[in-house]
Amino acid sequence: MTDQYAVFGNPINHSKSPAIHKQFAEQTGQDLHYAKQLVAEDGFATAAQTFFAQGGKGLNITVPFKIDAYSFAQELTPRARRAGAVNTLALRADGKILGDNTDGIGMVHDMHNLGWDIQDKRVLILGAGGAVRGILQPLLEERPAQVVIANRTLSKAQELVAEFHDLADMKACEFSQLAGEQFDLVINGTSASLNGDLPPLPAQLLKPGASCYDMMYGAEPTVFLTWAEQNGAAKLADGLGMLVGQAAEAFYLWRDIRPEVIPVITALRRQLGEKK
Ligand code: ATR
Repeated sequence: MTDQYAVFGNPINHSKSPAIHKQFAEQTGQDLHYAKQLVAEDGFATAAQTFFAQGGKGLNITVPFKIDAYSFAQELTPRARRAGAVNTLALRADGKILGDNTDGIGMVHDMHNLGWDIQDKRVLILGAGGAVRGILQPLLEERPAQVVIANRTLSKAQELVAEFHDLADMKACEFSQLAGEQFDLVINGTSASLNGDLPPLPAQLLKPGASCYDMMYGAEPTVFLTWAEQNGAAKLADGLGMLVGQAAEAFYLWRDIRPEVIPVITALRRQLGEKK
């Protein structure tokens, strides 16, 4: 029987994961089927149980179930444990369900593909929610000079710094405390851009040659990337490459083969443009 995979979420209609994994499977000659499944808000554990009981081999997990998936997993990778959230479940040979979080490594690989260096750079992260927590360990393992987390609610940034400061030099602040600071790389991890909002940022925030990365993406440049362009960023990227990157790492965990991400990013970008 063809190996079965799926993505669980709510909502799930617009998920690009089935299209991404279909392209990975074609590229690598893997025989698998990948579906999307709408799961009731309180129904994650039952749905996941059923999926694996029926012979399913692996799941991707999206909003709002990444913490449920963390609880559901019988074993966790170190990066998933640190993230406190799971975006990939895999049935292992011994029958146990392994939980991983590939969001951070997906973002870091995307930056490598873009030719961006993180090592020794001064990095600013905007936001301190679940999305930011999910990427911190892989980002910090790239050995940045310092990572500053700025958030509207200071205490949430402080909590993340307390949890992760063993991995790198870190600092928490509010947006108003960014005046006079300068960075090589700024990553937007707030959900503000979903509403077209932007945290208040000082004009001189970017060093010459700075890179700006938005974990969100859309058919049009995000408000953060528009700000970045107007404020002297040399390099810009949105989160489409991160989306494909996290999928590639999940595929690798399941199938032990690494697909090519660039052709898939190019195809998705073209589709986004066509839908405008
Ligand atoms: P996610 O899983 O997408 O990270 P989250 O955990 O709710 O969602 O976190 C959302 C992040 O975006 C938080 O850092 C939030 O700031 P607060 O911690 O102060 O709530 C940030 N955010 C959302 N809307 C924002 C806005 N309009 N301006 C600034 N930050 C915003």
